[in-house]
Amino acid sequence: MILVTGGAGFIGANFVLDWFKATSETKGAEPVVNLDKLTYAGNPETLSSLQGDARHVFVEGDIGDSALVSRLLVQHKPRAIIHFAAESHVDRSIHSPEAFIETNVMGTFRLLDAALNYWKGLAGDAKAAFRFLHISTDEVYGSLSADAPAFTETHPHQPNSPYSASKAAADHLVRAYHHTYGLPVLTTNCSNNYGPYHFPEKLIPLMIVNALAGKALPVYGDGLQIRDWLYVTDHCAALRCVLHDGRVGEVYNIGGNNERANIDIVKDICALLDQLRPREDGKSYALQITHVTDRPGHDRRYAINAAKIECELGWKPAETFETGLRKTVEWVLANPQWIANVQSGAYREWISKNYNGTHA
Ligand code: NAD
Ligand code: TYD
Repeated sequence: MILVTGGAGFIGANFVLDWFKATSETKGAEPVVNLDKLTYAGNPETLSSLQGDARHVFVEGDIGDSALVSRLLVQHKPRAIIHFAAESHVDRSIHSPEAFIETNVMGTFRLLDAALNYWKGLAGDAKAAFRFLHISTDEVYGSLSADAPAFTETHPHQPNSPYSASKAAADHLVRAYHHTYGLPVLTTNCSNNYGPYHFPEKLIPLMIVNALAGKALPVYGDGLQIRDWLYVTDHCAALRCVLHDGRVGEVYNIGGNNERANIDIVKDICALLDQLRPREDGKSYALQITHVTDRPGHDRRYAINAAKIECELGWKPAETFETGLRKTVEWVLANPQWIANVQSGAYREWISKNYNGTHA
């Protein structure tokens, strides 16, 4: 079995759901212990299709709780830890960085330490086969100028936000646990994900949800910042590849070769909604686009060179940005209850704080 951390969040939950689909096709589904603190970003409802499924053991708890993690490792004897748990929203890290240091740095450190103790106690094949897969982000590499080549795995870490700094610190700790103690780690640095179950504080789901609610679509600054977008199930497939075939101690960049300016994405979302759920007045959702004050320290461009994982492990994304974005918009339209349930009082408070009360 495997231990997943943060498996009630956006990517972690997609990974768990996909894991059961993908592994049951090949070799009978391998069980998952899912450790998640259920912060505002964790939503057990996403995993409701697994209720009563003995292959999925959900544990509410903190990766920084060493006693709990050690107990889970001894009890379940996972062959791998897939580490997603993190505070993940850049804007929140600007308002309140401490939780990012606590979970992304200290939490990862405590998880690594518990993993090391567990791994040391393994023997033979179990010890040789064990993997600690750390899920990280392209944001650790910093910002690219318009014509700079895309990030490779050897690009220096130059994080600019408290979020990316905390993830970079975690990357370094993972590397050090391999270099110093021999822990068999793998690290992936992925570009921006989008898809089903995405919390509507991030660009794509926020814009869809706001558009449908008749609210302003708040584009930071000139909207010409570029991100390299990957559909979430393509990320999950890449992670399964790295877990299976990745070389211990190596870093793999994951990206979809889909560089897009934010303003173009918002316009694409408006065009899809105009087609799939036209406004009652027949006008375009694009009329709701508003430029708002830019994010402090806003990274201008991210782009991933995914040649290493493509050539070494044979992974390639299945979705284009066009197919993925359409699926995402269709998913939001088909799941209004999931969206309504995550828009709690705390969510509304955050939106009001981040957008100065103007777009709540
Ligand atoms: P998310 O914020 O949607 O989910 C994070 C999950 O971790 C939540 O379920 C939350 O409850 C849980 N969690 C938070 N603190 C915890 C703690 N101390 N102990 C246990 N669980 C805790 O994040 P996401 O977008 O799914 O990202 C998952 C991982 O992928 C993160 O490590 C992130 O840095 C990385 N990543 C994200 C993206 C992206 O575009 N979203 C891109 C590349 C990498
Ligand atoms: P986000 O989804 O927060 O991901 P990240 O900052 O980790 O890349 O933001 C994606 C891009 O969209 C980023 O350049 C900031 C921008 N953005 C807006 O323009 N308006 C918004 O309301 C949000 C949430 C993001």
